[in-house]
Amino acid sequence: MGTQKDPKQVFGRDALIRQIWNCLKRPSQDGSLRFTAERRIGKTTVMTKMAAEPEAGFEVLFLEVEGIDSCNSLNELLLTRMRQRLTASENLLDWWHTLRKNANGMEIGGVLKLPHTGPLTWQDTLEKAIEGFCLNRPRHIVVLMFDELPYMLQKIEQVSSKAGKVHEAITLLDLLRALRQRHFNLRMIFAGSVGLHHVVRELKHTKLASEPVNNMPLVEIGPLENSDAFRLAIHLLNAASVACADDQSLIAEQLVDQANGIPFYMERLVGHLSLLTHPLTQQDVTRAVREYLTSDHDPWEMDHFRSRLRVYYNGLLTDNIGRSLPEYVLAQAILDYLAVSEQPQSIEQVWSTIRSQFALTDRSIVVQLLKSLAQDHYLSCDLQKRYQFRFNLVRNWWKIAQGLES
Ligand SMILES: Nc1ncnc2c1ncn2[C@@H]1O[C@H](COP(=O)(O)OP(=O)(O)O)[C@@H](O)[C@H]1O
Ligand SMILES: [Mg+2]
Repeated sequence: MGTQKDPKQVFGRDALIRQIWNCLKRPSQDGSLRFTAERRIGKTTVMTKMAAEPEAGFEVLFLEVEGIDSCNSLNELLLTRMRQRLTASENLLDWWHTLRKNANGMEIGGVLKLPHTGPLTWQDTLEKAIEGFCLNRPRHIVVLMFDELPYMLQKIEQVSSKAGKVHEAITLLDLLRALRQRHFNLRMIFAGSVGLHHVVRELKHTKLASEPVNNMPLVEIGPLENSDAFRLAIHLLNAASVACADDQSLIAEQLVDQANGIPFYMERLVGHLSLLTHPLTQQDVTRAVREYLTSDHDPWEMDHFRSRLRVYYNGLLTDNIGRSLPEYVLAQAILDYLAVSEQPQSIEQVWSTIRSQFALTDRSIVVQLLKSLAQDHYLSCDLQKRYQFRFNLVRNWWKIAQGLES
């Protein structure tokens, strides 16, 4: 869980945030959204800025659900956040306290605790909480932001299935969808770095009919715009009082370029560079990135990009001569090939490389894997449907970590 940024310290994102408010103003059936992006791109920062500075007519509840492992705890968090909004209004406070009493809840230090088995089921409590809040805010659009929702779903599924309950996570998703359809002024944002499509696919193994998120359009959150990233770089250099031997704007450009405009890496880099005892040159920036990417201590946890392939691509294929071939091995081979390709590569080019390495005849396996690797933010494709790594930083790390540099 990252620390939340003071909204005044957030660079850029204004156009993106305006676009998101506009999406949320659409009718309720397609006004809810999924945020998709690699971790550390700045999803949480966008949401916390929106929650801190809501546009007129919106009531935003930001829910950090990464640590939640039961529907009961989700209700506790939701009702606690609602309570924090109600201090000013008598009517709403009455409504809240009635619901708390009906659910046998206790308020301790401003936090609501609900019993594990109380008079209301978790479904009843969730429905009543959302219904009451939305009814009491008829002139507002109520936005529930669920940050790190996929983690929560995985944990709920784990814990509840151990306790012998089935389909709890997908039941929760289905109920949230029903509530979105029921309340004209309710919107939700689902965000997370673990691909929600992977989690929903796993959950659906046990319950096939459900399509709980397909009516929530995707909003892709990318790196900062170049000009915003540049302003951030200058700000970071000044804030850390870094002395520059080269022109400061050249150093700032180098920082933006090397960190692909991703604030998290820019912050880390400047933090590291500020410890140098000599005035900074552009080469120092390049060298620092190289040190981070080659270090076996992996301070940027880049190995995550490699290790999660086994989790995401856990299928088992059979090749032409009957040997089993794990899907992640093919995904790795595709990434190896694209990491060393100087130009974006067509599906046909990737397929002929893979066919030369593995005994395969089913081309669609590669088509599907390329699509998944793009959905998982490893790759992006251009208008000619040619694929390349989405981020140079990840590509460079992959080349180093896989020993592919010539
Ligand atoms: N727009 C921004 N301006 C300044 N710093 C940012 C911005 N977006 C992200 N950051 C920095 O990067 C870190 C990671 O961003 P975060 O929003 O937590 O990413 P995510 O939720 O996508 O993993 C933040 O803690 C913050 O320090
Ligand atoms: Mg986050």
